[in-house]
Amino acid sequence: MGIESSCDETAASICTDGEILSNIIASQDIHARYGGVVPELASRAHLQNILPVVDQALLKASVSLSEINAVAFTQSPGLIGSLLVGAQFAKSLAFSLDIPLIAVHHMQAHVLANLIGETGKSKSIPDFPFLCLTVSGGHTQVVICESPSHMEVIGETLDDAAGEAFDKSAKLLGLPYPGGPLIDRFASDGNDSRFTFPEPRIPGLNFSFSGLKTSILYFIQNEKEKDPEFVEKNLADICASVQGRIVSILLNKLIKASAQTGIKNLCLAGGVAANKGLRKAFEETGSSLGWKTFIPKMEYCTDNAAMIALTGYHKFLDQSFSPLSVTVSARADW
Ligand code: KG4
Ligand code: ZN
Repeated sequence: MGIESSCDETAASICTDGEILSNIIASQDIHARYGGVVPELASRAHLQNILPVVDQALLKASVSLSEINAVAFTQSPGLIGSLLVGAQFAKSLAFSLDIPLIAVHHMQAHVLANLIGETGKSKSIPDFPFLCLTVSGGHTQVVICESPSHMEVIGETLDDAAGEAFDKSAKLLGLPYPGGPLIDRFASDGNDSRFTFPEPRIPGLNFSFSGLKTSILYFIQNEKEKDPEFVEKNLADICASVQGRIVSILLNKLIKASAQTGIKNLCLAGGVAANKGLRKAFEETGSSLGWKTFIPKMEYCTDNAAMIALTGYHKFLDQSFSPLSVTVSARADW
């Protein structure tokens, strides 16, 4: 069983021999009215959701509690109160069933979501080593993955994450939280070369998105002085142009990472991997550069417990278990 509770999704999944039997997610709508995730409200919602979500995951998988032989949970990084709910639940279950407890790193699990196959279908999964661009609301990383237990971050953001860049840009356009999916939707009707936003010059494989946010802020302020309805009239083109720049910042670093490492198996992961513009540009870039490209199914891109269960499965094979005294951590250290 895998349990995920690091942010505002309460999720449980059952996995057997690396195959996902169920993947249940309860999202917390309450945060939209505050324009971002409120940690205390998230913890309380996790407490309410966790038992029904676990029950549904067992039911959907047609598995009984007594058949579970290990429980994996997200140990870091995340909101501390949210992590505590999932960890305490997992520990209690492991203790009461006398089965191993497995602590999972949320970002490593996002990467391993690429190893989830499709039941009854032949979804291809990447060979090792592969490079993964992990793009979520809190992180932006380029990771070399040598095996399920051996990964290394070779580039990451120096300030905002890609998801934050989407969400903050959306906020400047007056769109509700989380704005990433809305920018994606409006961008599909827009012209991405209508407005130009700068690409930061950051050496190596690291990213920066704070300059982009500032340039969007000034651009909107200027244009609104000339025409107060500028945003409403040009929303699709602004969204397409913002999205186009975020995508080009991400892909240019990935191209560099592939050239530097010689690795041509390339993966996406994390909530922003649900972005249609990124998925399309990633696949187009891949086919022009001879990459093999892999993107998890949508439900395994955004926060989910299937990726925790799958990572737990690999740690189970390695007998990589945690004591009941293991603590959660808000930090992203690997
Ligand atoms: O991985 P995730 O579900 O949660 C974290 O671990 O952070 O990522 C959430 C982020 C949010 O910033 C959300 O706006 C962004 O992913 N996101 C998107 C899309 N779907 C989710 N951003 C752009 N386009 C999308 N379609
Ligand atoms: Zn995540």
